[in-house]
Amino acid sequence: MSDLKNNNPNGRRQFLKNASIAALSVGLFPKNALSREQESQSTMACDPTTKDYYGVGPFYTENPPVRETTQLAKASEKGERMIIRGRVMNLDCSEALANTVVDVWHANDAGEYDNDGYNLRGQFKTNSQGFYSFETIKPGKYLNGAKYRPSHIHFKITPENEDTLVTQLYFKGDSDIPGDAAASITSGSFDATHRIIELSKNTEGKLEGVWDIVVNGKGGNIGTNDLHLDKGVIYSVSPNPFSDRVEIKYGIFHQAQVGIIVYDIEGKEVARVADSTLSSEKYEAVWTPEPGLPDGTYFIALKVNDLQIQYMKIQRLRR
Ligand SMILES: [Fe+2]
Repeated sequence: MSDLKNNNPNGRRQFLKNASIAALSVGLFPKNALSREQESQSTMACDPTTKDYYGVGPFYTENPPVRETTQLAKASEKGERMIIRGRVMNLDCSEALANTVVDVWHANDAGEYDNDGYNLRGQFKTNSQGFYSFETIKPGKYLNGAKYRPSHIHFKITPENEDTLVTQLYFKGDSDIPGDAAASITSGSFDATHRIIELSKNTEGKLEGVWDIVVNGKGGNIGTNDLHLDKGVIYSVSPNPFSDRVEIKYGIFHQAQVGIIVYDIEGKEVARVADSTLSSEKYEAVWTPEPGLPDGTYFIALKVNDLQIQYMKIQRLRR
């Protein structure tokens, strides 16, 4: 915790000066001012979400219901249960987009759309931290000419006061992806690469997939907010991806109650790495995650006097 600590008053002044410049730079020039380490973190998994080549397709029904729960498919719906969740972020992934409308529709287990009603159709909204989540069934396949389209979910994503992105989500290992005119595109504006996600089975036997969406929009509820970077800053979180140990370097600019908190993709707190009153110094903390914590996306957040001023996204990936 303390090898970066410097109690020499001159050193401290120098640190404060450097820290303020660093904070200002991070706020004003998110990409240019980052260290190489931070840059690799911020560019990792921050690819703008692309449109799907097939656009909205023939099966969209206007005015779908706004779902009040995360259930899209009824409990009686035939098919393999599947949970899709993720976070909607702005184009440089520095802000989470709250209140984004995530409108989804897909075929049932037999590959048929409900074109009379709204079964397996609905709108969800991201929460204050930009997260969305819904439970449905894995869509069945249907013929498109002579070929089956791979299993897919249609999305219309509309951040507050921004344009709508129309796209589709596919699933890794689907044998119909290579032969599909849309899902097989690997470059350009219809590149589907980052829209083919891995599904894994959770302890309840349901499939689970994480899909983060990166679109044009304004957040500010959490994330790098330059109004607050005079209070403290996370300099680096490494390694990323991580396996069993994460080193977090951060600085505090005024004495304050400071927390380093780890959240999972749903915004649930999974660990509290630091929680104490700290004076203005540079600090280092180590997070050793529980072995049972699943691989996936996590967020390391810096809280100063209960104000979450910054977070960094990090992936757990064990070989
Ligand atoms: Fe479709």
